[in-house]
Amino acid sequence: MRKKVIAGNWKMNKVLSEANSFVDEVNGKVPNSDNVEAIVCAPFLFLPSLVEKTASSNVKVAAQNMHFEDNGAFTGEVSPVMLKDLGVTHVVLGHSERRELFAETDETVNKKAHAAFNHDLTPIVCVGETLEQREANETMSLVETQVKKGLEGLSAEQVAKTIIAYEPIWAIGTGKTATSEQANEVCTHIRNVVKEITSEDIAEKVIIQYGGSVKPANIDELLAQSDIDGALVGGASLEAESFLQLVEAGS
Ligand code: G3P
Repeated sequence: MRKKVIAGNWKMNKVLSEANSFVDEVNGKVPNSDNVEAIVCAPFLFLPSLVEKTASSNVKVAAQNMHFEDNGAFTGEVSPVMLKDLGVTHVVLGHSERRELFAETDETVNKKAHAAFNHDLTPIVCVGETLEQREANETMSLVETQVKKGLEGLSAEQVAKTIIAYEPIWAIGTGKTATSEQANEVCTHIRNVVKEITSEDIAEKVIIQYGGSVKPANIDELLAQSDIDGALVGGASLEAESFLQLVEAGS
């Protein structure tokens, strides 16, 4: 039985005091459970404080991006070495906003996935289609390509540890959630792709999240689906109370 992973992606929101208050509020309330894992994906600036504050809680801290090189002349970038040194455990890679607005590609996502494992960080690799691609019936082939290219060259063991987040772009921040059946259909396809590139055993282990207008009102139905193992949540993760409700739904 796979655990549920609830990750709140704050994107470029909050200031440090708000981020600190959030974790102060949720720290003691996230259960120590084999069934659910709670992660906050925060802006780089907040990471040192959040890692320190969550040290003895069950909340994990993720970065929202990173560079694939360990160090060097990359002005404005943050490396996996820096994240690991801080105590960050997870990193979001290839979010659609980074693909659309910051020229992230499957190739850079793949380099970053390798870099994450080289530094013992768990990647949350995001995939998903635009509305135009869905209407052109390209969802399955696009997602398949994103998964295959994004995970290329990883060992089966590394693939098993990767979290894959299926986020249809048309459902992000729009209030339009994919129906749980639509979301599950793609997550099942992703699991089959993982099976094709590794094995049935690995495919059964890999965590596949859904993201796109997830909120307390729709999380139960999404998590009840056969291949949805959690959620990557934007807007509804910004308030501690709502984040806790989402985590509770997963436990
Ligand atoms: O990464 C989470 C995300 O893109 C979904 O955002 O606001 O639709 O939950 P939201």
